[in-house]
Amino acid sequence: MATCRLSLLPLFLLSLLPFSNCHLHRFKFTTSQLLASNANNSFSPTTFFEVTKPIPLPKTQPCSHLLLQHDFAYTYSKPPVTSSYTPPSCLARSPSRIVLEWHATCQGRQFDRIFGVWLGGVELLRSCTAEPRPNGIVWTVQKDVTKYTSLFYQNATFAVYLGNLVDSTYTGVYHVNVTVQFYFDQSSRDRWYGQHHVPAFSSPADLVLPISRTLPLNDGLWFPIQNSTDIQSKMVSIPSNTYRAVVEVYVSFHSDDEFWYTNPPDDYISQNNITGLPGNGAFREVTLRLDGNVVGAVWPFTVIYTGGINPLLWRPITGIGSFNLPSYDIEITPFLGKLLDGKPHKFGFGVTNSLDVWFVDANLHLWLDQKSQNTRGSLIKYDAPEYVPSVVSKFRGLDGKFKIEADRIISSAGWVESSYGKITSYFAQELHFLNLMRFKDNGTQQWVNQTIHALSSTYAKDLHTVVYTEQLEQYFPLNLYTGTADQVGDSYSFVSKVLLGFDQKRIIGEKGGLGFRFGSLTNLQTAQGNMKVKGNLVTSGVGSTQEVYKYEGTDGCYFRNVSSSNYTVLFDKSEDSCTKIGRWGVLNKSVPGRTFALGD
Ligand SMILES: *[C@@H]1O[C@H](CO)[C@@H](O)[C@H](O)[C@H]1NC(C)=O
Ligand SMILES: *[C@@H]1O[C@H](CO)[C@@H](O)[C@H](O)[C@H]1NC(C)=O
Ligand SMILES: *[C@@H]1O[C@H](CO)[C@@H](O)[C@H](O)[C@H]1NC(C)=O
Ligand SMILES: *[C@@H]1O[C@H](CO)[C@@H](O)[C@H](O)[C@H]1NC(C)=O
Ligand SMILES: *[C@@H]1O[C@H](CO)[C@@H](O)[C@H](O)[C@H]1NC(C)=O
Ligand SMILES: *[C@@H]1O[C@H](CO)[C@@H](O)[C@H](O)[C@H]1NC(C)=O
Ligand SMILES: *[C@@H]1O[C@H](CO)[C@@H](O)[C@H](O)[C@H]1NC(C)=O
Ligand SMILES: *[C@@H]1O[C@H](CO)[C@@H](O)[C@H](O)[C@H]1NC(C)=O
Ligand SMILES: *[C@@H]1O[C@H](CO)[C@@H](O)[C@H](O)[C@H]1NC(C)=O
Ligand SMILES: *[C@@H]1O[C@H](CO)[C@@H](O)[C@H](O)[C@H]1NC(C)=O
Repeated sequence: MATCRLSLLPLFLLSLLPFSNCHLHRFKFTTSQLLASNANNSFSPTTFFEVTKPIPLPKTQPCSHLLLQHDFAYTYSKPPVTSSYTPPSCLARSPSRIVLEWHATCQGRQFDRIFGVWLGGVELLRSCTAEPRPNGIVWTVQKDVTKYTSLFYQNATFAVYLGNLVDSTYTGVYHVNVTVQFYFDQSSRDRWYGQHHVPAFSSPADLVLPISRTLPLNDGLWFPIQNSTDIQSKMVSIPSNTYRAVVEVYVSFHSDDEFWYTNPPDDYISQNNITGLPGNGAFREVTLRLDGNVVGAVWPFTVIYTGGINPLLWRPITGIGSFNLPSYDIEITPFLGKLLDGKPHKFGFGVTNSLDVWFVDANLHLWLDQKSQNTRGSLIKYDAPEYVPSVVSKFRGLDGKFKIEADRIISSAGWVESSYGKITSYFAQELHFLNLMRFKDNGTQQWVNQTIHALSSTYAKDLHTVVYTEQLEQYFPLNLYTGTADQVGDSYSFVSKVLLGFDQKRIIGEKGGLGFRFGSLTNLQTAQGNMKVKGNLVTSGVGSTQEVYKYEGTDGCYFRNVSSSNYTVLFDKSEDSCTKIGRWGVLNKSVPGRTFALGD
């Protein structure tokens, strides 16, 4: 996906590369005019969508505020499109829910484009555009942005960077409206804050600071990370009365690393004298560094953008996370003792094994002690042992098998004293990675089976009791098969099968605020397609996708079973009643995550 440095390059390279170089790897396509002209132009625009749980909203009418209206034509390498945000007068009241809505239309032909949405430098949304059709497409992304509430009370610059390229071939202009809707419901607001003598953990942060690049820029506000040794950072200082801090990391991967999970090790590439194929193996890790030390890691979900593998798979059901990329939270409260000195500290990002290019930035969520000017704290312990992924390679010529395995643990503990007393916090991450890859038939067929398993636990206690505990378990399976055949010049046929899953369980126990709650999600896509390709244009083909999404939680349930083929939704069943869906399976499963020994 896109950014042009990025997407134009494969465009020109592909037609020059010999078969053995492109067939393995370049799964980046858009549809050709030929396929496009098959479409019936009098059809109404196709609505693309990502399957996701609806945002629970109060029945009240929201106060709606237009943030930006813009037509993104040739915007690549230009400054982000900005507007001045001023809090609307309805914010005299406090909203209980804030929803950001991206609504876009496009017609013609275009690649998928990554874009970012920032308010005051804080990233609100990372997303990918849908690829248009001649009869036009339309899509909407709604995101719950309640956790950024404090931002909406300040004047700030609203910015969107969507690097699009328009010429006689790639004609799609993205017409976009971005609005924010404020919902008011006093009872749900009261519940966040609970009892006043207990610190709020689940309420939106009192302050959110950007860890991103500052305008003016001819790019997104994200940091581009180009290789393993490239560490991008920013100095940030925090208020002296902070009692909790969480870093929310946004990541997306492009160009040589768009399909990093399919990249073979370098020895395979060098021994076969392959040029132009990305390597570095199939393991990636995004690290968060505080004053140079790794304090947290993200082993990211493998988002497949709307033009990825076979673009016909993602029409109109788009890949999991592609319209609303996941962000990842890293608790840094144990390190507050170091940060509360009033001085700027260095927040840095790196990507292990990365190839050009990763876009990474973060938001620093801070909770402030309203009853004191100064909190104080100290780190008790911190452990982030070095680890080395194990790589087993067995290949002859272009055929062979590879296995990459990695495990990592990062943990920290520290106390913070505020008007709530002395609270000790623990944070631990436990990460597991496995990638099995196989090439057959002289490298024309590739299988990849990958799993990422991430556990993170936060635990906070005062002198007597536990005040907050949160356990998050994420499991990301990916199975991918791709096969090419019938190569003549730069034309070939391409078969693909994808299984992509995003499973998550979260259990929260809180002394105040919202009390005990949990949510369990299983979200699985399977997709199959075949296509004829010339260069990087799809000239004919068909794609089919099935998705089952199931959420059960103390905040409600949602189930959806939907399937599409050749642009048409075959069936679409949904259910939101817990009694109909509900086996409440999660209650009967063991609590995921790392358990801590109580005490310091
Ligand atoms: C395998 O692929 C390479 C590179 O495309 C080619 O040179 C070689 O002739 C192929 N071998 C066979 C047995 O097809
Ligand atoms: C195109 O679609 C319209 C509306 O569904 C239909 O009436 C028309 O016959 C179709 N034309 C062709 C050439 O398929
Ligand atoms: C944006 O809003 C304007 C004004 O309501 C409307 O005319 C236009 O069609 C909208 N565009 C999109 C892409 O929704
Ligand atoms: C915010 O912007 C509005 C409109 O430009 C201005 O009237 C107001 O004074 C600003 N508020 C602050 C706190 O700067
Ligand atoms: C890595 O990227 C940085 C930043 O672009 C660059 O300065 C450096 O030369 C690169 N290192 C290698 C080994 O390519
Ligand atoms: C790769 O290049 C080297 C040096 O030119 C040559 O000895 C070797 O046979 C080549 N390997 C393949 C698989 O073509
Ligand atoms: C991937 O998983 C599938 C289904 O479990 C299995 O059939 C296949 O052999 C696996 N492939 C690899 C390379 O492990
Ligand atoms: C989804 O619907 C299809 C078609 O009705 C059905 O075969 C399948 O079993 C359903 N899946 C689930 C998990 O309900
Ligand atoms: C896909 O649908 C188009 C009409 O929208 C039809 O012409 C084409 O034959 C279909 N392809 C397949 C493989 O069913
Ligand atoms: C929990 O699971 C066990 C075995 O899987 C079963 O026997 C038991 O009835 C379940 N309990 C509840 C409350 O569902």
